[in-house]
Parts: sequence; C-alpha cells; structure tokens
Amino acid sequence: MWKSFAPLLALVSCAAGLNILLTNDDSWASANIRATYNALKADGHDVLLVGPAVQQSGRGGTFVLPTTNITEPGGEFGSIPVGAPYFGQDSENGDLFYFNGTPAATAVFGIDIIAPKKFGSTPIDLVVSGPNEGQNNGPFLFTLSGTIGATYVSVERGYPAIAFSAGNSTHRSFTTLTDDASDPANIAAKVVADVVRAVANGVNATKQRLLPLGVGLSVNIPTFGPGSNCTAPPLRFTRMTGGAVVDQISINSTSGFPISTNLEASGVNANVNGVREDPGETPTSAGCETAVSIFSVDYDAPERLARPIQQRLSLAIEASEF
Ligand SMILES: *[C@@H]1O[C@H](CO)[C@@H](O)[C@H](O)[C@H]1NC(C)=O
Ligand SMILES: *[C@@H]1O[C@H](CO)[C@@H](O)[C@H](O)[C@H]1NC(C)=O
Ligand SMILES: *[C@@H]1O[C@H](CO)[C@@H](O)[C@H](O)[C@H]1NC(C)=O
Ligand SMILES: *[C@@H]1O[C@H](CO)[C@@H](O)[C@H](O)[C@H]1NC(C)=O
Ligand SMILES: *[C@@H]1O[C@H](CO)[C@@H](O)[C@H](O)[C@H]1NC(C)=O
Repeated sequence: MWKSFAPLLALVSCAAGLNILLTNDDSWASANIRATYNALKADGHDVLLVGPAVQQSGRGGTFVLPTTNITEPGGEFGSIPVGAPYFGQDSENGDLFYFNGTPAATAVFGIDIIAPKKFGSTPIDLVVSGPNEGQNNGPFLFTLSGTIGATYVSVERGYPAIAFSAGNSTHRSFTTLTDDASDPANIAAKVVADVVRAVANGVNATKQRLLPLGVGLSVNIPTFGPGSNCTAPPLRFTRMTGGAVVDQISINSTSGFPISTNLEASGVNANVNGVREDPGETPTSAGCETAVSIFSVDYDAPERLARPIQQRLSLAIEASEF
C-alpha cells in the first residue's frame, strides 16, 4: 500500500546559508562525512565538522569523554598519530575537527567547545549526523546507532538535528573520495544537501527554528547509483514503525552458541505516535526511495493511552492499604 503515496517534500533551488554542525559515528576521516562537508559548503552553508577520532558505530547515545591523548593504533585510517591531543584540527582546513569520544559526546563537544569559536554568538541552526555507512531503520536503532545517538543528544540540547543513514555500508577513508558525482559518498551527500535545502525552505533561519523544540529527523537513503537498479530515489515521508525489526535469539545446534536473527515484532511496530497513514521506513528504504521520518525525544506515552492507565492505577492505589 505504501507505494501509492506520492513523494511530499518539494525541493527548491535556493538555500539559506545555515550554520551547520556536521558529525557522525564512522569517524571524521570517513568518505561520507567529507563528501557531505563538500556538498553542504557548495550549497552556501557555513559548516563545522566535528567527528569521532575513531570508528564509533553501535555506541547509541553512550556518553564517553576522553581521559588520555590518542592511544594505539591512532586515528581512523591513520588520520591521527598516536600521542596527539584528544581533539584536534585538520592542518589544511580549520573547519575539520576530531574528538576522541563517543558520537553523542563528540556532538556535545562540538556544541559547547568548538561551535562557539567558529560561529561566535550566532547559534547553530542545524546539526547533521552522518551519512552513516549502512541504514538505521526502526525505533530499535535509537538505543544502538551512534549516528542517531549524536542526533538525539543534539535535539535534547535544543538544536534541530537530522540523522542520515546510507544503504552502502562500505567503511571508506576520505582519501578514496573522488570528484565523480556517481561516487557512492557523493550521491549520499547530495541527498543530505537536498534534504537540508528542503528543511530550510520557507523558514526564516534568523527568526525561526528549522524544526520544533524536541523534534528531529531520521533519513534512510537506499543503496543507489551505478551497480544498482535505483538511480534517483524520491524522498518519502515515513514513520519508524511498520516493518521494523528487532533481535530474536535461537541456539545454533551445531556450535551450541546463541545466534540472533531479525524479528518483525509487535512492540517495536506498535503505531503509537506519528502520521498513521505513512509507510514504515524499513520497507520504504529497502526499495528505491529515501525514507524521511520525524521523531521526538519525548518518550512519554500519549495522553489517550496514559490517562486510562493512570485511572486504573489510581483505583488500585485507592483500594490498597498504603
Ligand atoms: C596531551 O597532549 C597535549 C598537547 O600535545 C600535551 O600538552 C599533554 O601533555 C598531553 N597529555 C598527556 C597526558 O600526555
Ligand atoms: C558501495 O561503495 C563501495 C565503495 O565506494 C563501492 O565499491 C560499491 O560499488 C558500492 N556499492 C553499490 C551497490 O553501489
Ligand atoms: C524574517 O523575519 C523577519 C521578522 O519576522 C521579517 O521581517 C523578514 O521579512 C523575514 N525574512 C524572510 C526572508 O522571510
Ligand atoms: C534489477 O532489476 C532486474 C529486473 O527487475 C532484476 O532482474 C535484477 O536482479 C535487479 N538488479 C539488482 C542489482 O537489484
Ligand atoms: C552454527 O555453528 C556452526 C559451527 O560453529 C557454523 O559453521 C555455522 O555457521 C553456525 N550457523 C549460524 C547460522 O550462525
């Protein structure tokens, strides 16, 4: 049924020049983040890149600060020598920083320590995280993905933020990046620039927030480009529930050890919030479409579900001896 919904985000050609903090979990030296830096700069944004010193996938919102300078084996892809300070700046481009912490800690270091030096008293308009090397589909990823962790910690701090996750999961150094528009890192970066342009469209960046307080976006880009059947995936509004999976465990009868497989479970797919009619991001981005989900960091159950539970509990509490 989801195929019958038309793409809804209109793309416009003019973009307001935004102050953007760009971060990720695959490290400051990944091809995706450097390609995205280039694409956002080309669109006229002022971009500050602050990424983890090393690969920090799977850390979710874990907040770990460095207590030493860079230890063996150095920064990702040999990008930082052993013994270098716990944070540092690229020698040729003063807008590129590494920080030796988890993705959530790196985003906050960017917000509190580096951005004020770069942007002065003008605030960060938008935090962009990614594009991750691999998709992050469904609510389950909110405890697992470092890309999403850096995003929701930024939303929690009050900044509009967007997580981007790309289908191509190859872990690549920026030194392999080419100028070819069909380079997988460049095509993912173009989607980021297009979505940022759409988010900025119609919003007076100096007077208005790009997204409401407590709200962010999670964008899943399919595998596309040469070598796949997908060339120009349209943007489609989605919800996180609908076809989302979580782990289930079984025992390998040969080895005796547990193995995990994906389960499309009922809890993770309970459509409690969000736009009910929207398709799930998991099936959407498995095809040739970019899934755009809108999340909030308010974990409260909605009032229509919370009130009857409160009523039932208060009756029980009144009837008890306590
Ligand atoms: C960490 O690096 C800084 C800058 O090079 C240096 O001043 C400091 O002594 C180093 N600290 C440790 C514990 O090695
Ligand atoms: C994924 O990226 C790698 C590295 O750039 C590339 O070699 C590969 O062809 C890409 N895969 C697809 C399906 O585009
Ligand atoms: C931005 O907002 C100010 C104050 O509300 C208004 O005067 C100005 O025209 C707006 N600019 C744009 C481009 O909408
Ligand atoms: C592309 O589409 C064709 C026809 O639908 C199919 O046979 C082929 O397996 C597809 N290739 C990829 C890489 O998805
Ligand atoms: C089960 O264990 C055997 C022996 O260690 C291994 O070869 C096989 O790949 C395992 N199967 C799965 C599904 O992990």
